[in-house]
Amino acid sequence: MKIRKAIIPVAGLGTRFLPYTKAVPKEMLPIIDVPAIHYIIEEALSSGIESILFITSEGKQSIEEYFSRNHDLEKYLKAGGNSEALAALKKVPYNFKRHSVIQAEARGLGHAVLHAEDYAGGEPFAVFLPDDLIFHKKPATKQMTEAYDKYKMPVIAVERVARNMVSSYGIIRPVRVAERVYNVTGIREKPPVKEAFSNLGIVGRYILPPSIFGYLKKTKPGAKGEIQLTDALAKLMKEEGLFAYEFEGTRCDTGNKYDYIVTVMRYAALQKGIKGKLKKEAKKIFGIK
Ligand code: UTP
Repeated sequence: MKIRKAIIPVAGLGTRFLPYTKAVPKEMLPIIDVPAIHYIIEEALSSGIESILFITSEGKQSIEEYFSRNHDLEKYLKAGGNSEALAALKKVPYNFKRHSVIQAEARGLGHAVLHAEDYAGGEPFAVFLPDDLIFHKKPATKQMTEAYDKYKMPVIAVERVARNMVSSYGIIRPVRVAERVYNVTGIREKPPVKEAFSNLGIVGRYILPPSIFGYLKKTKPGAKGEIQLTDALAKLMKEEGLFAYEFEGTRCDTGNKYDYIVTVMRYAALQKGIKGKLKKEAKKIFGIK
């Protein structure tokens, strides 16, 4: 079955970016001139997704506003002949069916995903965690939906992570099926490096069957009262099987300050006409001779 629907949980508290996230969703952090979530929607649409459910919370309306056209502004810019600004507005991906549901309390990613049951309507769907931006000519989600079509199995995205980062990821026990494709035979959330099954860490893209909702409902909340998606994935793995796909592409994390800064720097380096100036400035800032 073609993957047409996606869900994007954006109801988290964004505590790593407080106090900024007190007023602005972290998904709206600027990557120079577009918010991070812009790239997520671009990836979704270029992977064949037609309809998107935001699992959102009060105070995050700006995310949806960004994906609504502003006809008054367009008219104004047209009248003034400001074609450059008009072209910038046209970059925004508007062409998808937009839905939203409120997660009233941030009780974990699994709890957020549970809010999508009616929306999924019995179809398999993609999940995008908006902290992870992934760039490649063939979008990561497209690579994964192709694997899903081929193997008829749920697919989670994995990436090889550095040894010192293993304890920050969900780590899988992989059995190789084909190039980049693994049968997942174990999952452990944030293991100490010595106990990790591998260095294949789960990152924020999933192609899931509707049966995931049943496993989520059976998942007990952890110590902080949060329902973890990983726990439900472990149940799905045991009952129905689960594949992992080591996607091709560059992942840029925007979920913590350090990686966010690196992501912005990468983009800055791609901006026409400023790379040279920026390099000079950076040398001054960091005292590089
Ligand atoms: P994170 O834990 O990475 O994001 O959740 P967070 O909670 O917003 O940020 P920090 O850790 O406090 O800084 C992964 C994704 O799941 C969503 C988040 O919005 C993020 O996109 N999420 C998390 C929910 O939608 N609801 C939740 O209850 C928890």
